[in-house]
Amino acid sequence: MAMEKTIAVVLCLAALVVVTMSVPTPTADGLETKDMCSKNLATKVGLWGGNGGSAQDLKEAPKRLESITIRSNYSIDSIQFSYFDQTGQKRSSGRWGGPDGTDHKINLGSSEFVKEVSGTYNMFNGEVCLTSFKLLTNTRTWGPWAEENGTRFTITAPSGSSIVGFFARGGRYLDAIGVYLNKV
Ligand SMILES: *[C@@H]1O[C@H](CO)[C@@H](O)[C@H](O)[C@H]1NC(C)=O
Ligand SMILES: *[C@@H]1O[C@H](CO)[C@@H](O)[C@H](O)[C@H]1NC(C)=O
Repeated sequence: MAMEKTIAVVLCLAALVVVTMSVPTPTADGLETKDMCSKNLATKVGLWGGNGGSAQDLKEAPKRLESITIRSNYSIDSIQFSYFDQTGQKRSSGRWGGPDGTDHKINLGSSEFVKEVSGTYNMFNGEVCLTSFKLLTNTRTWGPWAEENGTRFTITAPSGSSIVGFFARGGRYLDAIGVYLNKV
């Protein structure tokens, strides 16, 4: 968590220079750091899953999710998504994970936002990776995909915020996942 917090603080300082003149008040935890900076700054929470694969992240902090593609078979193979960054520009993550599995594409409605992601992770073909994944928006449930088998995790956006992007570990499969939170 220490590294995520540092990243959030660095992003906050950058935003303060560019966007606001307000004076930040120091806070104790990573989730609160977003309140001391720009209203629209994303905060990272996670990861959940295994240590395999390599770290995958966005270059531009996200503000809103547009679509998400999950590939799955007996485990979660990969995640890919398109989003709008903090300046409103449309961007796309790479495909994080492996090439196998079948596509499940979610196009979020214009007033639909992701409130919660959950799933399981477990040993699968020699590495700990995500074995199932599910999303809950303000209007529907998507998934679960693959097999709900192993350790459960649930990431719920605090009230007034939503999940606007992801970071991950990926290789042969989607090894681990974390989220970006932003104010709704
Ligand atoms: C799903 O996994 C099985 C067993 O590993 C494999 O034979 C099959 O090709 C996979 N299907 C896809 C669509 O990747
Ligand atoms: C669940 O995981 C165990 C090992 O961790 C495995 O033996 C079993 O086949 C898995 N079940 C499913 C439904 O994937």
